[in-house]
Amino acid sequence: MSLTVRPIVGRRAKITALGAYVPPDTITNQDLEKMVETSDQWIMERTGIKTRHKLAAGLGVSDMCTEAAKKVLAMRGIAASEIECILVGTVTPDMMFPSTACLVQHKIGATGAWGFDVSGGCSGFVFALQAGVKLIESGAHKKVLVCGADANTRMTDYTDRTTCVLFGDGGGAAVIGPSNRPGVGILGAKLGAYGEGVDLLYMSPGGSSNPITPETAANGGPTVKMKGKEVFKLAVRAMDEAARDILEQHHFTADHIALVIPHQANLRIIEAISQYLELPMERFFVNLDRYGNTSAASIPIALDEARRAGRIKPGDLTLLVAFGAGLTYASALIRW
Ligand SMILES: CC(C)(COP(=O)(O)OP(=O)(O)OC[C@H]1O[C@@H](n2cnc3c(N)ncnc32)[C@H](O)[C@@H]1OP(=O)(O)O)[C@@H](O)C(=O)NCCC(=O)NCCS
Repeated sequence: MSLTVRPIVGRRAKITALGAYVPPDTITNQDLEKMVETSDQWIMERTGIKTRHKLAAGLGVSDMCTEAAKKVLAMRGIAASEIECILVGTVTPDMMFPSTACLVQHKIGATGAWGFDVSGGCSGFVFALQAGVKLIESGAHKKVLVCGADANTRMTDYTDRTTCVLFGDGGGAAVIGPSNRPGVGILGAKLGAYGEGVDLLYMSPGGSSNPITPETAANGGPTVKMKGKEVFKLAVRAMDEAARDILEQHHFTADHIALVIPHQANLRIIEAISQYLELPMERFFVNLDRYGNTSAASIPIALDEARRAGRIKPGDLTLLVAFGAGLTYASALIRW
């Protein structure tokens, strides 16, 4: 089942501000060598990851969203009270309920906002972004805060070398609002899901079908379970298709893209997409060496870094493309 989202003629949303936050503590490949049978060489060759960040005990995803959101609001001098809605893409919320969006609303003092969480795995930021885009395009709101954040180290089994080398923590945020320049903004998105792939990537126990009990907690508690090889192949296929579909719908070719911001899961996945799209790696933004896979945070963190590094200029066409648990996939085209 897939959903193609096209903007209503005449009204378009754009990203007006961006920000990100990663916690200061890190887990390096050398740290992991001391925990499981692995090596810096294996991790670098098979994933491209050197280090990841880890959220300190006692903090939650809402704290990373709050830090990122404060930067975003400060960047444009936006008062928190101006935010009308908060959307948070995450699969590691502070708690099952209330939503992380409500916690962020309180922590930043967005007294006039409502909001909700979006569970789209690593596609979560793009899913949340599109929900926000529709709120802007429909005229319902003028300022929506969209966050993507995950505390993956909380769900990582540090005895499983096939998953523990991959994941890190972080958060990113964007404010979106109406575009006042023709052709500028979020041009469209391609969103989809393969629910049949649920067993390839999930967290268990936890949730109504397999709740946390004293027995399941004693067995290691909630941790990520993944069939890495299968996920790898599907990620490449789905991201390639999602990229092609959105380009085709908007009558562009890969050549029109100034920069691709791919979900940062594995350097080899990004290299494969670069080959399939016949677009050189120089046009892909890569920062997974420093953060690992931060799930819903990876795209907003990369977008923010790319902007600050001068790799996004007015008039540029940027492609976002993601893949994650669900299984889900998402692409979006942005003209700056
Ligand atoms: C997880 C992943 C890095 C594994 O890489 P891979 O090249 O597929 O490696 P394999 O699973 O085939 O394992 C190859 C060998 O390395 C071993 N290995 C696995 N993890 C290892 C580690 N951290 N260190 C050293 N060796 C490891 C395996 O046990 C296997 O050994 P064997 O041949 O003796 O059985 C890769 O499959 C991947 O990135 N998948 C997608 C993950 C992802 O992106 N998930 C999130 C999606 S949003």
